[in-house]
Amino acid sequence: MSTASLDLNNIQGDILVGIPKKTQTYFFFEIQGDPSLFRKALVDIVPLIKNASQAQKDRDAIKEHKHKGDGTLLHMTGTQIAFSHAGLEKVCNTDPSADPFIEGQFKDAKNIGDAGTDSGTKFVPAWDPAFGDANIDGVIFVGGDSHQSVNHELQKIKLILGPSVKEAIHIRGDTRPGKESGHEHFGFLDGISNPTITGFNDKNAPPGPKAVNASVLLTGQDSKSSPVFVDGSFLAFRYLFQLVPEFNQFLKENPIKGDSELLGARMVGRWKSGAPIDLTPTHDNPELGKDPKRNNNFFYSGELKKGDQTRCPYSAHTRKTNPRADFTEHDREDALNERRIMRRGIQFGPEVTEEEAKHHRSLHGRGLLFVCYQSDLTKGFQFIQQSWANAPDFLDLAVDSNLKKIEPGLDSIIGQNADQARGVVGTDPAKPDGSISIPRFIVPRGGEYFFSPSISALRDVIALGVNIG
Ligand code: HEM
Repeated sequence: MSTASLDLNNIQGDILVGIPKKTQTYFFFEIQGDPSLFRKALVDIVPLIKNASQAQKDRDAIKEHKHKGDGTLLHMTGTQIAFSHAGLEKVCNTDPSADPFIEGQFKDAKNIGDAGTDSGTKFVPAWDPAFGDANIDGVIFVGGDSHQSVNHELQKIKLILGPSVKEAIHIRGDTRPGKESGHEHFGFLDGISNPTITGFNDKNAPPGPKAVNASVLLTGQDSKSSPVFVDGSFLAFRYLFQLVPEFNQFLKENPIKGDSELLGARMVGRWKSGAPIDLTPTHDNPELGKDPKRNNNFFYSGELKKGDQTRCPYSAHTRKTNPRADFTEHDREDALNERRIMRRGIQFGPEVTEEEAKHHRSLHGRGLLFVCYQSDLTKGFQFIQQSWANAPDFLDLAVDSNLKKIEPGLDSIIGQNADQARGVVGTDPAKPDGSISIPRFIVPRGGEYFFSPSISALRDVIALGVNIG
């Protein structure tokens, strides 16, 4: 199917466009009793689910409103829904044949490097008990301009759902305040590099990585697909705590040539402003960081010699999770495009307090409610976490001064090695094969894999209980 025929009225708004949000509440639910009660409620919920064309209109309205410059926010909300495998089985008799969706993230936690206890026959990840104990059938998440707007919308939805569901877990995310808005909790501008889509937004896209086919993000893009999977997407949710005072202290204690900010930038691949170190390797450049025409236009191809990591270490988070031109050399270009994911997370938790900063210790939970979409979890999230971020030998292009191969080590930011220290290579440009041990600053405490069906699948198949194999 050509992407020019994308049906934006049918695709949930968060996948290709993104629900605009200053705050977002995730209501994880368990379906109670006879699922037909839930299906009946779903008939009235479906018209409240924001599709891609409505989400785009919201974004356009925000842009126009910003021009007025009065500093106010437009009141708006956007609701989305997704099902775990357990939930999908209850409401719809169809087999997605999609690992690890079927197994669920609890069972996948060991594969993706989470810490936990292993009895040999059973692995129990060290997650918040809520995520281990809860039976999560689905999640309804509402994003919007304020807690008031979001709470109001969620109340309306809960009223419709009535006793057909029980709350399993409830988590709220908020963007950070003031100038930190758009920055994740370590302080780095986020949400810069997401894939553009051929036939949808590639025409006016700022320069950067090649556009991907919609089928990288959307399921059911061929004619053989079951109607449940047409225009849907798999959603990986991760409850990721960030040890911010500890991270800050680590940077302070391990500066590169006296520069702690440089170490942070070489761990992420970008400066806090968003400026890529491949373009500005020695100092931040906030003008570049905020310029969408320049801040994603790099390919890790500027090193003086092949395999060098003077400008950007191979272990930097952005280089590990999207190796750009490195990979084209290493494999087919479309092999890289298959691995692109659409990230739509939001921060949670308070700002670092004076006390936490003073003692370099987290006393409050904060981090990222990580969400990403892909048509295949084994090519997207699971693969990136397991086979790139956690794999010390990916990508084996780096060489030392004698042209001997160097393993890059783990992704400096998200690489997981249970709760063991993480070996990372190349953070100091003067010592390309120098390895340091970086404590774990991101602690996974839960998550699940979901499927976000299209509007028509929700309305015409799931809500009606149509049996489709
Ligand atoms: C708390 C955890 C995380 C933090 C603090 C974090 C932070 C960041 C930052 C600051 C950027 C650069 C901004 C941008 O290019 O948009 C980024 C990019 C990215 N992150 Fe993460 N991230 C986290 C978790 C993850 C996870 C779990 C994955 C996937 C397994 C991931 C995949 C990516 C990808 C694919 C990019 C874009 C790379 C590129 O295209 O250049 N991140 N992240």
